[in-house]
Amino acid sequence: MEHPLGAQLLRRKPIADIVTDSGQGEGGALRRTLGLRQLTMLSVGATLGTGIFVVLGEAVPVAGPAVVLAFVLAGVTALLSALSYAELAGMIPVAGSSYSYAYATLGELVAWVCGWCLLLEYGVSVAAVAVGWGEYVNELLNLTLGVALPDALSQPPGDGGLVNLPAAAVVILAMVALLGGAKESARANTIMVVIKVATLVLFCVLAFAAVQDRNFSPFLPLGLGGVSAAAAKVFFSYIGFDAASTAGAEARDPQRDLPRAIMLSLGIVTVLYCLVALAAVGAMHWSAFEGAEAALSKVLGGTAGSVLLSFGAVVAVASVVLAVLYGQTRILFSMSRDGLVPKVFSRVNPRTGVPSANTVLVSSFIAVLAAVVPLGALADATSIGTLFAFGLVNIAVLVLRRTQPDLPRTFRAPLAPITPILGVVTCGWMMLSLDSATWVAFGAWMAAGLVVYFGYSRRHSALSCAGPAYLDNDSSIGR
Ligand code: ALA
Repeated sequence: MEHPLGAQLLRRKPIADIVTDSGQGEGGALRRTLGLRQLTMLSVGATLGTGIFVVLGEAVPVAGPAVVLAFVLAGVTALLSALSYAELAGMIPVAGSSYSYAYATLGELVAWVCGWCLLLEYGVSVAAVAVGWGEYVNELLNLTLGVALPDALSQPPGDGGLVNLPAAAVVILAMVALLGGAKESARANTIMVVIKVATLVLFCVLAFAAVQDRNFSPFLPLGLGGVSAAAAKVFFSYIGFDAASTAGAEARDPQRDLPRAIMLSLGIVTVLYCLVALAAVGAMHWSAFEGAEAALSKVLGGTAGSVLLSFGAVVAVASVVLAVLYGQTRILFSMSRDGLVPKVFSRVNPRTGVPSANTVLVSSFIAVLAAVVPLGALADATSIGTLFAFGLVNIAVLVLRRTQPDLPRTFRAPLAPITPILGVVTCGWMMLSLDSATWVAFGAWMAAGLVVYFGYSRRHSALSCAGPAYLDNDSSIGR
């Protein structure tokens, strides 16, 4: 039966239905194997990487030593949205992260737009992160063997090369790990997270020992404008704290553990980032960061510490690729189960419990992107899409607090509605700090998304077959 267009675009998926069968794919189901530790590690794994190891170096020339304040500002923005994520992840513990939250609250079209933005947050960010990986691989080769990969094979076209092979290689390695199973991938991720946290702690110890007071003055050489521009840049380093929310269908106790994992991981990375930034600008004058690749290694000045740091960075960034790639496949899994993208994305390998075809398709696409597009362009595109998705999550909390005040919540965002409203405002403000080229790219991305939605997804939506019960009405939520 055909429904009026407006009702189709606003149709929502009842929370009860989303939760009940969220892990069931074509040919098999995802397996519930992940506990609080693995989920927290998944979020830290997805978060801590290129942002602190590479983008910090690009932000220091914009803000001077006050880059520390930029990390605090970006951290507060992330925190406001994290509170909303935690509330929704506890209520709607499924695989699709904010896409699923939007489907339950704001309707199919907004959910689609959100899922489309998540392709930027997860898919494009993996490519950006992989590009950062190449920088540290080269640094490590240089420090240990005195060789470096030629630009032609380690830089994308436009940055003086032909193809970025290390970037593509790390994506393929992550793909192989993911095909082995969620539990196995989580184990590999945990080991890598321990290594990267230890590396940054070591960096802090070494760099704090080399701090010179004069490096802090002037503290604000480029004014507060510089701090705000740097905050928009380093926001990239916080992206990923929400990765646990993509694992709802594979968590053992999602209602309890997802909110905890999100808040814990954000706490861990925020403290680490602020300490690392403080140590870095204290140990090396801010003007020396201009144009410095693999910046944290430069801070340690070619010592044995630099070698360890570069090794840690290589491991760190590889784990981001693994964890974020995992998130992307699970978001597409959810969208596929809802019929909005082809069924191949929810086909589960019965032996491993992994959406294998999905994993191979997504990884291949991202490997190509990482091989040919420069980091800066990718990082900004990632940030704008993520900020938009975060904004929607905050709005979803506001909507559900009004429409479903009595639905059980294992975590409640404190001071709501103030925190989600501030979450929307800060995300909007950060988006406005990004340059016009990024906005044009974002506009084009959204337009392409709408073409796909109206050309394919609307007609293939599982809700199209489900009858009028799913059309827009408040009683459909949480039945
Ligand atoms: N936050 C992730 C990183 O910095 C994207 O690598």
